[in-house]
Amino acid sequence: MKVLLLGKNGQVGWELQRSLAPLGELVALDRHSTLAGGGCGDLNDLDGLRETVTRLRPDVIVNAAAHTAVDKAESEPELARTLNATAPGVLAEAAQAVGALLVHYSTDYVFDGSDTVPWTEDAVADPLNVYGQTKLEGEQLIAASGARHLIFRTSWVYAVRGGNFAKTMLRLAQERERLTVIDDQFGAPTGAELIADVTAHAVRQTLRDDARCGTYHLAAADETTWNGYARFVLETARALQPGLALKAQEVAPVPTSAFPTPARRPLNSRLNTARLRGAFGLNLPHWQHGVRRMLAEIL
Ligand SMILES: NC(=O)c1ccc[n+]([C@@H]2O[C@H](COP(=O)([O-])OP(=O)(O)OC[C@H]3O[C@@H](n4cnc5c(N)ncnc54)[C@H](OP(=O)(O)O)[C@@H]3O)[C@@H](O)[C@H]2O)c1
Repeated sequence: MKVLLLGKNGQVGWELQRSLAPLGELVALDRHSTLAGGGCGDLNDLDGLRETVTRLRPDVIVNAAAHTAVDKAESEPELARTLNATAPGVLAEAAQAVGALLVHYSTDYVFDGSDTVPWTEDAVADPLNVYGQTKLEGEQLIAASGARHLIFRTSWVYAVRGGNFAKTMLRLAQERERLTVIDDQFGAPTGAELIADVTAHAVRQTLRDDARCGTYHLAAADETTWNGYARFVLETARALQPGLALKAQEVAPVPTSAFPTPARRPLNSRLNTARLRGAFGLNLPHWQHGVRRMLAEIL
């Protein structure tokens, strides 16, 4: 079996390189990759993408690449649309042509954040920002292509590799006595490791039974706010490394309006994961489990 991975160096892409490797021959590309004889891994090169799929004829395509700079997307909507919508649509058409299963990731930002209950897959999507709008358009193009697909909507992704919210909080806590962190956005921090591992399980099962194709919410269990997340990071860091010089004594709650950003963000990012857990027989661990592991690795 051949698996094509796009976006191999992103948070999720990096972990997918590990989790997909046992499934078969893995061809992992980033935006700078080119194939001898034609084809590439750049989502901005639509002809190159088509050629990659046509030449490699993979059994599975996993697209972990995206325009993920939520605020920047507001000022470059065309680029965001190409990477988040047009390119996934092209991948889906190419997947359909060679009979490949397409795996793609989307976001809680397709929802407007109203209400307080976790969103189900069938809830009406109504994005607040360009990133969410273009990710939704990508989902729609994939669905319209007729390709066999899995779309995983996830939230608040972190990874050991690269920068993340926890590392920022730890840095600020070393510099300041008081942090102010938003406490009116609710969601679940979800590890790239978990997303990658669930993806590999789901791909294996879907290859055996096409009925599992569709859109699923994939997030760690339970919920918190960015403020609760920050407090957990500092408490856990202090427990793991008592010698760590963390000055911050207070993580003050503030509303989203305290930090104006170009892109509006949904207050309710809770995702109902019952469909995923039921379809694939999986357990999704509590968000603190993954964050604690990440902290143990970085400290
Ligand atoms: N991060 C989150 O909180 C979050 C939340 C919900 C959903 N998601 C979704 O989950 C998926 C994975 O996100 P992530 O957190 O792993 O994102 P990430 O770390 O930002 O990775 C995105 C990857 O896309 C690559 N990329 C950007 N432009 C490209 C292009 N033109 N061609 C090829 N690759 C390109 C980036 O490459 P460079 O490193 O070279 O820029 C990067 O490696 C995405 O679909 C995202 O929308 C993320």
